[in-house]
Amino acid sequence: MEATQVGIIGAGPAGLMLSHLLHRQGIASVVLERRSRDYIERRVRAGVLEQGSTDLLASTGVGERMMREGLVHDGIKLRFAGEEHRIDFRRLTGKGITVYGQQEVVKDLIQQRLADGGEIWFEAEATAVDGIEDDQPRIACRRNGEDTTLACEFVAGCDGSHGVSRAGLVAKSFERSYPFSWLGILAKTPPASDELIYAYHDRGFALHSMRSPEISRLYLQVDAADTMDAWPEARIWDELRLRLAEPGLQAGEIIEAGITPMRSMVTEPMQHGRLFLAGDAAHIVPATGAKGMNLALADVRVLAEALAAWYRSKSRDLLDRYSERCLRRVWRAEHFSAWMTALLHRDPAGDPFDHKLRLSYLRYVVTSEAAATTLAENYVGFENA
Ligand code: FAD
Ligand code: PHB
Repeated sequence: MEATQVGIIGAGPAGLMLSHLLHRQGIASVVLERRSRDYIERRVRAGVLEQGSTDLLASTGVGERMMREGLVHDGIKLRFAGEEHRIDFRRLTGKGITVYGQQEVVKDLIQQRLADGGEIWFEAEATAVDGIEDDQPRIACRRNGEDTTLACEFVAGCDGSHGVSRAGLVAKSFERSYPFSWLGILAKTPPASDELIYAYHDRGFALHSMRSPEISRLYLQVDAADTMDAWPEARIWDELRLRLAEPGLQAGEIIEAGITPMRSMVTEPMQHGRLFLAGDAAHIVPATGAKGMNLALADVRVLAEALAAWYRSKSRDLLDRYSERCLRRVWRAEHFSAWMTALLHRDPAGDPFDHKLRLSYLRYVVTSEAAATTLAENYVGFENA
C-alpha cells in the first residue's frame, strides 16, 4: 500500500491545480488519472479564462506560456436579427478574459508538477473511496493491470462528471437538462473575428471562438438526440455560415469534432468527512457562460487554503466551511450559465412568443447599460458572490 497526505482523483484542471497549490504549501499529494498523459493533453474542452483564473495561474508560477500565447479579449460580440452589438467588458467592469485552451492549462500544470517532483499516476483508475468517516481514507485503484490502494489523510474528488468520488457523499443533487446539445469543432482556419461571437438565429445558437491566429473553435446548437452521423462537414460549415452570418469564415480542415450535452447540476454539500469534491465532480454548467474550468480552479483555491490551514494549525474551521464558501460562486455561475443558455438558444418546443421575448431581452442587453453590465460582470467572473 502506498501513502500520501492528500489523494487526488483526476488530473483535470481541478486535480492538477490542487496538487500544485498544495506543493507550494509543502503538502504532499498523489494524483490518480485513469487516462494516459497523451490523452488528457489532447482532450479539447473549454477555452475561456476569467481574470481570477489567469491571476491564479500567473501568481503561482504556471502562467508563463498563457501570458505569451493566450489571447486577451476585452469584450464579446452578440449577433441576432441581422444586427451586431459589442459588449465592452473592459469599459463596463475594468476586466477582460483570456482565450487559452483547457488542454494547454493541463499541459502547463503537468509539466510543472513533474518538474517539482510531483506524483501523477497516469492510467490509474480509482475504483472506490473508503474510510472518509473514520479518518483513514483509502482510495482503491487499478494501475498497470493491478489492484492497489493509496492511503491518505484527505481525498479530493476532482474526477469530473462521471467520476467515482461523488458516490462517497451524503448529498443532494439539483439538476436540469436541456433539449439541445453543442456540436463543437476545432478547425484549421484563421478566426474570422478578433473577439468571440455569440449568435442567436432562427435556426439556433452558434458560437465563434478560437485557439490561436490559425485555429478556430466553433459551436452549433444541435438536437439533443443528434449524433455526428447527422452532421457531415459540409452541413456543419453551411450551418455555421448561416447562423454566424460571418462572410469572413472560411472552411478549413476539421481537427476535432464532438457533441456535448448541455446540463446543469449542483451537489450540496460538496464534502463529507475527509472527502472534498471540486470542479465538475461537484457541479456542471452548460458551456454558454464559459464557466466550467473557472469554477474548477476557484474551488481548488479554496480547498488548498483550507487544507493548508489544517496542516498548519490542525484547525478544521476552513475545511468545514469549504462547501459553503464554494457554493456561493457556484450558484451565481449556475444562474448565469442557465440565463445565457435560455437567452441564446432556440427551444425546440418553444412557441413564437418565446422567440419574441428572447429578441426583446437581447435588445435590452445591448441597449441598457445596466443589463450589459449584468452580463459583463458575470462573464468576467463575479468575485463577490
Ligand atoms: P475534468 O477536466 O473532467 O477532469 C476530471 C479528470 O478525472 C479527467 O481527466 C478524468 O479522466 C479523470 N477521472 C474520471 N474518473 C476517474 C477515476 N475513476 N479515476 C481516475 N481518474 C478519473 N466548458 C466550457 O466552459 N466550455 C466548453 O466548451 C466546454 N466543453 C466541454 C466539453 C466536454 C466533452 C466536457 C466533458 C466538458 C466541457 N466543458 C466546457 C466543461 C469544462 O471542460 C469542465 O468544467 C472542466 O474540465 C472541469 O475540470 P475538472 O478538473 O473538474 O474535471
Ligand atoms: C471555447 O472557446 O471553447 C468556448 C468559449 C466560450 C464558451 C464556451 C466555449 O461560452
